Amino acid sequence: MKTLIFLVLAVLGAHAANLNVGSIATGDRLLHSSTVYRPPRANAVQSENVSFYGNRNTRITAVQAQEVGASQRASARIISGGLGRNNVTVRFQSAVGRGYNYVFRVWGR
Ligand SMILES: *[C@@H]1O[C@H](CO)[C@@H](O)[C@H](O)[C@H]1NC(C)=O
Ligand SMILES: *[C@@H]1O[C@H](CO)[C@@H](O)[C@H](O)[C@H]1NC(C)=O
Repeated sequence: MKTLIFLVLAVLGAHAANLNVGSIATGDRLLHSSTVYRPPRANAVQSENVSFYGNRNTRITAVQAQEVGASQRASARIISGGLGRNNVTVRFQSAVGRGYNYVFRVWGR
């Protein structure tokens, strides 16, 4: 049991900083790509919400936020919209006293 909990934590820990949902199929296009960056700030937790809005017919098939360079243990998670929708909002949040540097990508058709 202890081993199992350790393994789960290890897996979550390794991937906590990145967001990777959905899958990219033939015919899907890169709909959005941007850098989401904040430099470290002493004792502060920094955060921002970044949205992508497609048009009426857009269907999002994958959402990715990947840390650039060494992990700063930030987090990125979807707070609205997402797979199968035409828009998505991701909340980026730093660890205390750190920053973040992500490439945020939305794929779909
Ligand atoms: C981001 O969205 C969340 C949830 O709607 C909200 O609580 C928060 O204040 C927003 N943050 C910013 C920086 O706008
Ligand atoms: C975002 O997607 C939701 C769910 O599909 C939809 O209800 C909402 O109207 C969309 N917002 C915009 C601005 O497109």
